[in-house]
Amino acid sequence: MLKAVILIGGPQKGTRFRPLSFEVPKPLFPVAGVPMLQHHIEACAKVPNMKEILLVGFYQPNEELNRFLCNAQQEFKISIRYLQEYAALGTGGGIYHFRDQIVSGSPEAFFVLNADVCSAFPLAEMLSFQKEHGEPNSFVILGTTVLHYVEKPSTFVSDIINCGIYLFNPDIFQHIGTVFQKNQQDMLLEEPTNGWHRAEAIRLEQDIFTALAGQGKLYVYKTLGFWSQIKSAGSAIYASRLYLNQYHTTHTERLASNKEGGPKISGNVYIHPTANIDPSATDHCCVLNSIVGWDSTIGKWARVEGTPSDPNPNDPYAKIDS
Ligand code: GTP
Repeated sequence: MLKAVILIGGPQKGTRFRPLSFEVPKPLFPVAGVPMLQHHIEACAKVPNMKEILLVGFYQPNEELNRFLCNAQQEFKISIRYLQEYAALGTGGGIYHFRDQIVSGSPEAFFVLNADVCSAFPLAEMLSFQKEHGEPNSFVILGTTVLHYVEKPSTFVSDIINCGIYLFNPDIFQHIGTVFQKNQQDMLLEEPTNGWHRAEAIRLEQDIFTALAGQGKLYVYKTLGFWSQIKSAGSAIYASRLYLNQYHTTHTERLASNKEGGPKISGNVYIHPTANIDPSATDHCCVLNSIVGWDSTIGKWARVEGTPSDPNPNDPYAKIDS
């Protein structure tokens, strides 16, 4: 059986997402009509043999998060639990801290997903790739191509970047454990205050992956599907655009259509059930590149225009600059 872990961070992370994260914790901010995290959960729930989804973060659980978990469990008919870190333990430290919960029930593999990415989440493809190409007990990173410009690179610069979506098996904890023990020993040599937390704070990307790559245990599955980070408010707009486009194949019911007496719909549009849109809305409005807060009214002659931050549409490998 399989499990999935979603790294949701905590209130101190995601400051670039302000002011949007003042009202709602960032992972619950709606992207293309549903909470950012729901896209991850939907993708995980579709993978055959997926038994449980664990959210790991350092948010204080609140009513909103509990309600979301409850609704998602009912809708996707899968166990979803929130595991709270006592402090920010980093992307590797969090899963290490909760390793017993992750390996309970003996999953042969588990996915780890960053909450702040939007993607077509090719999880089934990553599993097949691992079976076909990976050595037994190897790990897979989802990668995508990006063109960056590095002036006079002094070393090899790859055009593949890490998408923050991984396929691991329980062996990963031995590798994280080695780093944890080394951190502990290093700390004994320093001052012993607050040592536990600092030994447990481990980043997958810097502390674990470089060593694994050196040992030939890490494989990259390169996707051609869409992917973007959601760091700044502007990137949430771009992510909405990508998901709205995907709804043509995954969720046509979420896309608004032209109806007698209704507003004129052009392009991919999601309308929240509580939104009131005047049939003449397109006549006097220009709301572009904007996120409009709850309980706002946009009246006649309004013009709410933000700054476009989408990547160049003519460059197939362009990624949003966060
Ligand atoms: P930044 O540019 O600093 O955001 O770096 P990054 O793109 O490498 O992102 P980062 O590693 O900070 O975060 C990746 C994902 O992991 C995000 O979804 C975060 O919410 C989450 N995350 C980051 N730090 C922690 C942590 O300490 N604990 C948990 N549970 N999640 C975390």
